[in-house]
Amino acid sequence: MTTEYIFERQQADQERIRLQMIEEALDPATIARLQTTGLQSGARCLELGAGAGSIMKWMGSVVGASGRVVGVDRDTKHLQHLADPRFQISEGDFLDVTLDELFDLVHCRYVLIHNRSSVEILTKLCQQLKPGGYLVIEEPDFTSAKLLNRTRDAARQRVNNAICRMFENLGLNPGYGLELPQKVTGEGLQLIATDAQLHLARGGSPMGRMMAASQQALAEKLIATAEVIEAEIDEYVRDSQDIESWAVYYCTVSVVASKPT
Ligand SMILES: C[S@@+](CC[C@H](N)C(=O)[O-])C[C@H]1O[C@@H](n2cnc3c(N)ncnc32)[C@H](O)[C@@H]1O
Repeated sequence: MTTEYIFERQQADQERIRLQMIEEALDPATIARLQTTGLQSGARCLELGAGAGSIMKWMGSVVGASGRVVGVDRDTKHLQHLADPRFQISEGDFLDVTLDELFDLVHCRYVLIHNRSSVEILTKLCQQLKPGGYLVIEEPDFTSAKLLNRTRDAARQRVNNAICRMFENLGLNPGYGLELPQKVTGEGLQLIATDAQLHLARGGSPMGRMMAASQQALAEKLIATAEVIEAEIDEYVRDSQDIESWAVYYCTVSVVASKPT
């Protein structure tokens, strides 16, 4: 049940820049979360949906030459900079990739929301953990988007509606993040921490720029929902680059859990 990834047909250069914007906006919180697992030299890590590779690179710096970081993505062209032998890169859909080892740490960010087979993927992620190993997952909830000025932000509201409708039309849940803690505990893991970060940000911030680039890339798909027109997407993009304009873009829900020994 492979779902077409909404950014699959983007031009490679533009998609690399957009992935790097995600990293700039989110890596500090992700790294702080990963550090709570006590990751050490020599450990084995799995990164699903490795994107442009900044989290693999960070994991590699912690586990050192005696450790190992396996990255899986359907498209690995943005991971070529990870040339050291501690990195292993596997291209393909996660459900089709064979991994013949278990891991101390498994991480994914913004991957499950894009897959109709998220249940099977989560089960496989848990199976790949060593007993006592840690799972860290971060997924968005786009239904949490909020306006700070209802009159001025009419176009933003329509773009937010279109984002949710686009996911629903693909058989995906735009509020997937909200289900994450329950899904993880349903797999028999022990919940260590869960958190929800509302992305209240100003235009021109890493979050604002990333969301502007994402809606530019998705414009055709958003317009196809009939919830929004091109001029409203243009206004959203302008506002998201304008330092005077604030909004709640969405929310990221995170879970840190461990596999019972
Ligand atoms: C929104 S991007 C996030 C990239 C990275 N995790 C980050 O947060 O910086 C989602 C990534 O997951 C990959 N992906 C989505 N579903 C996948 C699947 N079923 N198997 C392998 N990779 C997948 C996409 O190709 C893309 O690189």
